[in-house]
Amino acid sequence: MRIDVITLFPEAFMFLQDAGVSGRAHNQNLWSLHTCNPRSFAVDQHRTVDDRPYGGGPGMVMMVEPLLKAIEYTQHQRHAPAPVILLSPAGRRFDQACAQQLATSPGAIFICGRYEGVDQRLIDQAVDDQWSLGDFVLSGGEPAAVAMIDAAVRLIPGVLGHHESSSQDSFQSTLSGLLDAPHYTRPEVLDGVAVPEVLLSGHHANIANWRRQQSLALTARVRPDLILQARDQGWLTKADELFLKSLQL
Ligand SMILES: C[S@@+](CC[C@H](N)C(=O)[O-])C[C@H]1O[C@@H](n2cnc3c(N)ncnc32)[C@H](O)[C@@H]1O
Repeated sequence: MRIDVITLFPEAFMFLQDAGVSGRAHNQNLWSLHTCNPRSFAVDQHRTVDDRPYGGGPGMVMMVEPLLKAIEYTQHQRHAPAPVILLSPAGRRFDQACAQQLATSPGAIFICGRYEGVDQRLIDQAVDDQWSLGDFVLSGGEPAAVAMIDAAVRLIPGVLGHHESSSQDSFQSTLSGLLDAPHYTRPEVLDGVAVPEVLLSGHHANIANWRRQQSLALTARVRPDLILQARDQGWLTKADELFLKSLQL
């Protein structure tokens, strides 16, 4: 997977390349990251990429030409054309399914907006999709792009070792789209509070059953919408349904 990011702040992406799971995978060439600063394509001596909005109002708007040239340059650098995705509060809400889709694709070109956003003509001409991190407004698309890229990279086969597999992560369809069960590590007793006994039993089936029930109980309590989704998708077993019925919610 090759990710290109068009951004006024390329340094915001260094962490992804250098640290943690995504950094290790980048070193192993399991994915690659390339940034392009639209300022390089500005035509005036001040390298201007924004201007005042027509019709008045606060803030500035990102101009079409530097962004369009940055997109053309970036597409040219790739072997095959890639979808251009604008980070925007008006976009499709990013979720685990989007991360999975990105992780199994050849990649994408992300455009990070700043100021009041980008000129609508750029969106109409050159943007294939718009993705949002959630119903809040960031100062720029960079934190959203970093979060989305990180979520996708950890799903690329081979990025996570078996012992840190994503199959038990929250929202994964392998876990029926439920939230993950709670985790415990040493010490066995902390301030009088012990780790649940079943986790010390070494009995794999009982542990798996306990984790499943914990996932169901937590999800039913804090995200009942995910239970409905799992039911709709036919992801819940008879045993799951019986357990859910037994919960006093
Ligand atoms: C200050 S915001 C512009 C907000 C815009 N005026 C509005 O109210 O929708 C600047 C840029 O941050 C990015 N951004 C802000 N919130 C976002 C979100 N929830 N998801 C993805 N990108 C976001 C977008 O690229 C946006 O162009």
